[in-house]
Amino acid sequence: MKAVILVGGQGTRLRPLTLCVPKPMVPLANKPFVSYVLEHLQQNGIDEVIFSMGYLPDGIKSYFGDGSSLGIKLIYAVEDHPLGTAGAVKNVEKYIQDGDFLVLNGDILTDLDLRALMEFHREKNASGTIALTPVDDPTAYGLVRTGAEGEVLGFLEKPSWDQIDTNLINAGTYVLQAEVLDMIPAGVEYSFERGVFPRLVGKDLYGFGSNAYWMDIGTPEKYLQAHYDILEKNVSTAVSLCLDEDFVCVEEEARLEAGAKLVPPVMIGGGSVIKAGARVGRMAVIGPGCVVGSGSVVEESVIQADSTLEENVTVRRSIVARGARIGPGAVVRAGAVVGEEATIEGDNVLANNIRVYPGTVIKAGTIKF
Ligand code: GDD
Ligand code: MG
Repeated sequence: MKAVILVGGQGTRLRPLTLCVPKPMVPLANKPFVSYVLEHLQQNGIDEVIFSMGYLPDGIKSYFGDGSSLGIKLIYAVEDHPLGTAGAVKNVEKYIQDGDFLVLNGDILTDLDLRALMEFHREKNASGTIALTPVDDPTAYGLVRTGAEGEVLGFLEKPSWDQIDTNLINAGTYVLQAEVLDMIPAGVEYSFERGVFPRLVGKDLYGFGSNAYWMDIGTPEKYLQAHYDILEKNVSTAVSLCLDEDFVCVEEEARLEAGAKLVPPVMIGGGSVIKAGARVGRMAVIGPGCVVGSGSVVEESVIQADSTLEENVTVRRSIVARGARIGPGAVVRAGAVVGEEATIEGDNVLANNIRVYPGTVIKAGTIKF
């Protein structure tokens, strides 16, 4: 079976991480996010994947190429204007019209059993089968009402609170029959969630529930949570192979000076240097090529590649994007996000979910919460 991955969105809620890098390429535990999606597909026997792209397509293509290193054939399609989720699939119709196919939102981390989903779809002879997952707050998702056999009784995108009568939502993974493509107008914006699925209700559309791990990487909070879950092996990923029985993963040529302390679970990227007297973890991922200076502390945080924390820096529950520099004694905490190549000079305290845009320089002593 073939799969289409939708990666055309702008990832606005994840800014500034998605200003220079498209969401699928934002690193998650030191690998582009979408490489987890590809690995998951490959493990479930999918050998051909079509990337449906719009915003910042070049990085994806140059990183994954023809997919041979992953054992998957990759095809790329770029929209010159956004076609919506269904329009984007219609746009790649020529690659998928020979049977059932999978569609995946490109911003989901899951270890859902895709083989079981495809099997269920075949057994029901469904026109479409939507993977479902329970969430606490369905208002940000597509609410799916199902009957006793899993038949979809209603699909409501972004429901209001008074419309909510189930916690099951569209998990952003579908199997569809090729005939569904005939319902989608070509060349115009059209949505599965507001167009195709509501029209398919009562026409052999099914929901497939599971207790698989599921997380949409939509916001900085969820981006951090996905890292914690990978580090704790709450979701099955290839990172688990690097994490030893003590939940420590140190990649090639990283250097821990004597007196540097790692508190698991923790991951240190290749070639990084953790200086004497620094403490990294628990729940910390340091990207490749970083320096964590002496006396610095990194907890519950992600430091992306090539960043430098000078001496006595504290980073807690925050994200530092690629190539940033944090000066001596600075504190970055409480949901702060420092954009790529930003410089935070010493004697600043960044907190309260502050977003620092890429390349910004904050002079010493400017911000104190
Ligand atoms: N190619 C292309 N073109 N891709 C697009 C376009 C487009 O015009 N618009 C959105 N996408 C991609 C996004 O990149 C993302 O991977 C996916 O389609 C879904 O779009 P989002 O913008 O992330 O939608 P959402 O998160 O608000 O809601 C969707 O996902 C929920 C699960 O996380 C819906 O499918 C909901 O029903 C679902 O519950
Ligand atoms: Mg989304």
